[in-house]
Amino acid sequence: MNLVVVSNRVARGKANEPMTGGLAAALLPVVENSGAVWVGSSGRVRDGAQAEPIAQIEQLGQGALALLDLPAAHYAGYYEGFANSALWPALHSRSDLIRVSQDDYNSYREVNSFVARALLKFQKQDTLFWIQDYHFLSLGAELRTLGVKSPIGFFLHTPWPARSVIDSVPNHRDLVTAMLAYDLIGFQTEDDRENFAACVRADLGLQVRNGVVTSRHGRTRLAVFPIGIDADKFAQQAAKAASHPDVSRLRRSLHGEKLAIGVDRLDYSKGLVNRINAFDRMWSVHPTLLRAASLLQIATPSRESIEAYGNLQSEVARLVSEVNGRHGEVDWTPIRYLNKGYGQGVLAGLYRSAQVGVVTPLHDGMNLVAKEYVAAQSPVDPGVLVLSKFAGAANELDAALLVNPHDIDGMARTIAMALSMPLNERRMRHQILMTKLRRHSIQQWFADFLDALQDDGAHEPVEVEPLPAASAGLLGSRFMSSTARYH
Ligand code: G6P
Repeated sequence: MNLVVVSNRVARGKANEPMTGGLAAALLPVVENSGAVWVGSSGRVRDGAQAEPIAQIEQLGQGALALLDLPAAHYAGYYEGFANSALWPALHSRSDLIRVSQDDYNSYREVNSFVARALLKFQKQDTLFWIQDYHFLSLGAELRTLGVKSPIGFFLHTPWPARSVIDSVPNHRDLVTAMLAYDLIGFQTEDDRENFAACVRADLGLQVRNGVVTSRHGRTRLAVFPIGIDADKFAQQAAKAASHPDVSRLRRSLHGEKLAIGVDRLDYSKGLVNRINAFDRMWSVHPTLLRAASLLQIATPSRESIEAYGNLQSEVARLVSEVNGRHGEVDWTPIRYLNKGYGQGVLAGLYRSAQVGVVTPLHDGMNLVAKEYVAAQSPVDPGVLVLSKFAGAANELDAALLVNPHDIDGMARTIAMALSMPLNERRMRHQILMTKLRRHSIQQWFADFLDALQDDGAHEPVEVEPLPAASAGLLGSRFMSSTARYH
């Protein structure tokens, strides 16, 4: 099998490079070992819309990394425009933040088509294509247009929202139609898969039976594959990181004080404002926690040229300074707030130094910080995870303290409870969580998805259903499929 993995952002293979976001960091170890070609954006652009795609190739583990310069004329419309100002807010149920234009949509389609042309260079007889995330919803359809007959899978790392939300994106019907060119579409949770199926039924008038969408042209399987981490490797990294200068300086600075930690991209989906308000409330309601517990919030700048992100950055900075002004003392700062990224190695040590991990997004596909925080804990004296029930991770990590990130009082109470949880309860919860993390590892996720994508021989032929007129132009997959028996 010759595997080609595609994502907009890729990682360069060094553990101590600053975190590049969940997707790239998660894929790196498995792609490295698989011998795959990983294709993504170089971060540079090139003039000339019709230019031939050129890839700069580097070695990556047993495979290769192919970096594409994307077309200059369409890059902003694609990345800052349609992908991150229309799709990202819609996928995270923030219709109020959707900014969309036909030009941006055209650029998005152009970049998808450009990447499809580039991928032809990596196609061999037994190639499997595995496309990642919302940047490339229409890439499979573009590959089919170019005559590619190989299996093509797609995994969505974000949530798929309720119909009423995705309806706010003017081109959603086009995109969902294009997505049916994939043989297999993977989601993080059952809710995401159901929301997508509802959209297929209502917007395209197609049936979804046993997780399979049938169109005149073929079938697309919809299945759930919760992404994981290599928990044991992360635990080892965390144990080793104690000697890292940042980690030992942090520990020395605490003087017996308890620490809660939050690590997020500076993104409105992460619930930072509500989290800081909850800490503010906690210190007001429980003055005994003043000087006794503080928050280290790492908020890595992200997509800064987009207005909504700029606004959030100012809002969070102002709020942190107000809370510190209200509760701080000459020798005590309640919230240490850092706007930079850290490598996985250091982060592992920082997580292990904190008695509470706060992961409270308003919506999140999975949230691997939650899983990393758990894996980083010492089993002898583990910290407590406070987790939003709206993160995909909450489906598995139900032995964490689950919170509603809109309920500030509730969060304040739960964080205070986490800070004082007795050792035996912490150990019990940690053990349960680790068992789940080991069961759903990143290696298992990778293998399950690829098995499902290759599993075309064993499928029973299914009667093809007549398509309603509105859906007659659908692109279809060429592979017979089984029912969704994956998770
Ligand atoms: C999320 C998305 C990824 C993205 C990452 C970082 O995890 O699902 O596709 O790469 O955020 O965002 P950025 O825009 O910096 O690539």
